[in-house]
Amino acid sequence: MPFAHITGWGMYVPEPVLTNDDISKLVETSDEWIRERTGIRERHIASETDFPSTMGVEAAIRALKVANLVPTELDLIICTSSSPEYIFPATACLIQDQIGATKAGAFDLQAACTGFVYALNMGAQAIRSGSIKNVLVVGTEVLSRFTNWKDRNTCILFGDGAGAFVLQASDQPGGVMSAVMHSDGSGADALNVPAGGAHCPATEATIREGKHFIHMDGKEVFRFATRVMGKAVTEALEQIQLTTNDVQWIVPHQANYRIIDSAAKHLKMPLDKFVINVDRYGNTSTASVPIATIEAIQKSQIKPKDKVVFVAFGGGLTWAAMVVEWTGPLPSKKHVRVEPYRWFARLRSYIRRILRHIEGFFSRKEL
Ligand code: UT7
Repeated sequence: MPFAHITGWGMYVPEPVLTNDDISKLVETSDEWIRERTGIRERHIASETDFPSTMGVEAAIRALKVANLVPTELDLIICTSSSPEYIFPATACLIQDQIGATKAGAFDLQAACTGFVYALNMGAQAIRSGSIKNVLVVGTEVLSRFTNWKDRNTCILFGDGAGAFVLQASDQPGGVMSAVMHSDGSGADALNVPAGGAHCPATEATIREGKHFIHMDGKEVFRFATRVMGKAVTEALEQIQLTTNDVQWIVPHQANYRIIDSAAKHLKMPLDKFVINVDRYGNTSTASVPIATIEAIQKSQIKPKDKVVFVAFGGGLTWAAMVVEWTGPLPSKKHVRVEPYRWFARLRSYIRRILRHIEGFFSRKEL
């Protein structure tokens, strides 16, 4: 059975930064309150030209460069987002087209903020089955467009960004070692976007009532998160007979500093084993685990052979944890250039649209 290694990683955050002081001009709050209750100081907000797909593409291209893999070698793209480009088509397909992953299947996976860990697990399982070799997992969020900037309960929390990992098959042991995934739909209404889906299609009234924005019972989500995070980590470790003593780094979903602190206490682990960057990005939902991981790699905190645990929770309710033995790019003699594929992809997409148009014109004539 092949092993599934994380061999590439990339992140992208839009440039504009929104500080707590900026938010205090929109709603009745303060920098002090936000920092004390959440640990957040600032977050990045997408500009008008940033979309989940374009941000996901930036992260994906960077991840492919690290993995030394060209887009045409990808077998599968899984995109996970709580703020997808459309209800359908899948954001994964838009990313597939923009990077020119001509061989890849592509689909979106919806598990709110837990999505990235779920998607990594699905990608790893597909590799372990032996049916595919190269998977791209992308978490990308433009939550600012689903945020009610008049609701101080939610608008202080979220930020925009994207992160991507490349998973590859190898005979060498390591990579994804274990994972647990959980859900409890009885808590669906604790964190949701009530309108815009089939249950409550968008109407003038739903827009007037702000039902297409994120709604959250903050206290309920807080209680749930502190209940499940530590437990999920322990479960994933127990699957492979490891304990927290074997772990170098925990990368938790970056929702609130106090939630991470409570998970550390539950696990009786020092907080300095937790990667924390919620102060500078806020909660970027499905992008938070990859962004935090990548920053830890850049700071030389996460190193090859380290045992790293990803743990996340979110709407659904969903939660998951995964244990990984960190590796990095697979050894290779070739050195690939990824960037040209992107420009080729643009041209290819354009030509395919024209051909589809011409084909449509002639087939209409035939009918
Ligand atoms: O990916 C998962 C996403 N969601 C989460 O992880 C959210 C988890 N929940 C939380 O992080 C916290 O519940 C919040 C940060 C959302 C809220 O913090 P809290 O400590 O649970 O505050 P609270 O809701 O209990 O509110 C305490 C007080 C209230 O005033 P009163 O009733 O005591 O007078 C609120 O009205 O603070 C007030 N408040 C605020 N004050 C200033 C609530 N939001 C704000 C605010 N600024 N932004």
